[in-house]
Amino acid sequence: MRVLVTGARGQVGHELLRHVPDGFAAQGLSSAELDISDAAQVAETVKRLRPQLIINAAAYTAVDKAESEPERAYAVNRDGVAHLARAAADSGIPLLHISTDYVFAGDADRPYRETDPTAPSGVYGASKLAGELALAEHCPQHLVLRTSWVFGAHGNNFVKTMLRLGREREELAVVADQRGCPTSAASIAAALWQLAGQYRNAGALRWGVYHFSGAPACSWHEFAVEIFRQAHALGLLARAPRVKAIATRDYPTAAKRPAWSVLDCSQLIHSHGISPADWRQDLHRVLQELGALDA
Ligand SMILES: NC(=O)c1ccc[n+]([C@@H]2O[C@H](COP(=O)([O-])OP(=O)(O)OC[C@H]3O[C@@H](n4cnc5c(N)ncnc54)[C@H](OP(=O)(O)O)[C@@H]3O)[C@@H](O)[C@H]2O)c1
Repeated sequence: MRVLVTGARGQVGHELLRHVPDGFAAQGLSSAELDISDAAQVAETVKRLRPQLIINAAAYTAVDKAESEPERAYAVNRDGVAHLARAAADSGIPLLHISTDYVFAGDADRPYRETDPTAPSGVYGASKLAGELALAEHCPQHLVLRTSWVFGAHGNNFVKTMLRLGREREELAVVADQRGCPTSAASIAAALWQLAGQYRNAGALRWGVYHFSGAPACSWHEFAVEIFRQAHALGLLARAPRVKAIATRDYPTAAKRPAWSVLDCSQLIHSHGISPADWRQDLHRVLQELGALDA
């Protein structure tokens, strides 16, 4: 099955192309090769490559910058998705897409379900929600995986920032009053390929919006402590820095962050048999990979 992967050089795009399962021929295109915000380019590319499935890993992901350039965030996260959705629908093929916990207000007291009301607090979340809606409007065969706190060896993420700061400083301050679910890019890629496989085997899928993130939930502070514990044990850091727990109000950012980002992933387990991965094990693999890259 021919699969077009957009955003091929991002964290998830990279993992998708690293682990293409047997039976699939994946064509990955970077933003330079396919700008999804360009409708004509999207239509022409899909016509030329004739994919049988599209996985959209492209997105505008600069959460704080989005507050000052909303046009760009919407051009990619809403309009870009709409262009892909129309092209997929015109070809009669499905589109697998990735969205975010930031579509929610972040003030719940239990894990968010797919049916919970959305209320993004910033431009990035609002643009991603608009993308979900555009996808549903234009492409009947669509599946959205909402995920959170993505990390991997490739690209920019919290794990790599912590490692860099951990080498430079003896003490760090990390927010302890935001809870969420770290998710490895590799586990998202694996889930997407499992879904693609189910579609290929059955000729259909249970379409719609699903939650997929790592387990268990933690705070950024707990995530940082675990990163340093493992990095030290693996010899990536000579010593683990002290990690001071601070409140969100002590770490101001341009975009408001949800205090509660925990996603209930039970629907995807029941409907597609795909379970969340333990992010601590995935973290171990990512740190090993980063260690090998350093060596
Ligand atoms: N990162 C997170 O913590 C997080 C959390 C929840 C959900 N998500 C979602 O997960 C998905 C994958 O995220 P990620 O972490 O892999 O993001 P990422 O590393 O920032 O990758 C996104 C990729 O999209 C590309 N891109 C940007 N604008 C584009 C355009 N107009 N046309 C084509 N490609 C374009 C980027 O290319 P350039 O670098 O060349 O611009 C980049 O390679 C996204 O849908 C994101 O919203 C991410």
